[in-house]
Amino acid sequence: MKKLKTEELLEWDRSHLIHSMAAMGATRGIVFDSAEGVILRDTEGKEYIDSSAQMVNVNIGHGRKEVIEAIGEQLAKLQYTTTYWGFTNTATILCAKKLAEITPSGLKHFFFTSGGSEAVETAFKIARNYWHAKKPEKHKIISLYNSFHGVSFGTLSATSLGMGRLWKSYGPLVPGFLHIPSYYCYRCAFGLEYPGCRIKCADFLAETIENEGRESVAGFIAESVQGPMGMINPPPEYWPKVRQICSEMDVLLIADEVMSGFGRTGKLFAVEHWGVVPDIMTMAKGITSGYIPFGAVAINDEIYRELQSRQTPFSHGFTYSGHPVGAAAAIKDMEIIVGERLAENAARIGEYTLKRLQKDFLPIPCIGEVNGLGLMIGIEYVEDKKSKAIPKKVWEISQKIQDRALQDGLFLRVYGNRVTLSPPLIINQEQMDRILAILKPILAGIPEWF
Ligand SMILES: Cc1ncc(COP(=O)(O)O)c(C=O)c1O
Repeated sequence: MKKLKTEELLEWDRSHLIHSMAAMGATRGIVFDSAEGVILRDTEGKEYIDSSAQMVNVNIGHGRKEVIEAIGEQLAKLQYTTTYWGFTNTATILCAKKLAEITPSGLKHFFFTSGGSEAVETAFKIARNYWHAKKPEKHKIISLYNSFHGVSFGTLSATSLGMGRLWKSYGPLVPGFLHIPSYYCYRCAFGLEYPGCRIKCADFLAETIENEGRESVAGFIAESVQGPMGMINPPPEYWPKVRQICSEMDVLLIADEVMSGFGRTGKLFAVEHWGVVPDIMTMAKGITSGYIPFGAVAINDEIYRELQSRQTPFSHGFTYSGHPVGAAAAIKDMEIIVGERLAENAARIGEYTLKRLQKDFLPIPCIGEVNGLGLMIGIEYVEDKKSKAIPKKVWEISQKIQDRALQDGLFLRVYGNRVTLSPPLIINQEQMDRILAILKPILAGIPEWF
């Protein structure tokens, strides 16, 4: 193929491509063309260090030949058959078996999807379906403020990222979804401080279930660590407490591990940090590290047996549920994550990064807080440390931070006033030092843009 000029490509992009979360026709003026490890390369040959693993999904890093070969071999053998109506194929069976080896105990039955939104949508349908024959009034789904669970109508109805920025133009949403304050300690909705708060945000779940009527609530969903909002990790007591509340109040607990799964937080799944097993767990992103779209929902034995006992078909499915090529990629991806102990590396580099951020970044006058779990790290900038005021021009400033980072060879994910670090889990200390060296002067210069 003749080498295309960057400007020509961008012109075609502006004419034909609709981008997510960008104005129509808006491009960043860069065309990525190749990548390897933690490095991205554009059509002009410029290199960027990928400090976000793109959409926090490229866990094993870019360009891994083993996964590319596994995909090629699967394509050469069987590119597609369906998993509808009890049909099956070798790769998808082996993928389910492999996944069962690494998911928390009790979560060993899987439905496969093409990504995270489909996985969460499926989780909601399973939760409602589970109660349908037993306690048909139980249908409400409770989720957290600042959460992100996807963009399809059901998942969007559970999402509250940016307090409605994502759903304002799409109403009315699906009935039966409601939100409660999240475990965002730095800006506690109850004005309390950890640990004196005694995890009021978890207790508020019990209050809400009681107020709504426990006979009406089907499930509670939360991200194990809030990701798209800018990486907010819960206090250690949070998940055990909501687990207890859900068990006692007959509400299904759904852990959204779409972003936090597959080694990202320093454990294979983030709920393992707190010894919690949810009833339903959603997964995507790191399951194939972005080499091909794939996702999964895990359900526990109790839900599985209840649905099985009905002797009726599970009336749900996507054409690409259990796609054999996705399955082959997932198997190889899981082998790499486990075999190369990438969760341990995420824990080690994450801890190192957090220490450096606390020492070198927190003293910067506009940095309000740094927090993280493994390689899900958030840095919050503020106009004033004492009042924690968010600059009025926050979205403009975030764009400027990203643009400056790109100029300096850093691909950076910023949401509102939270700058995040979530590189591929193969990153080493030297590469992280490079990221921090580029980032520090940019963040120190933020007040110029207030
Ligand atoms: C926690 C969480 N849930 C669900 C989703 C939706 O996944 P997808 O974009 O693959 O549909 C995302 C995507 O960022 C996510 O972070």
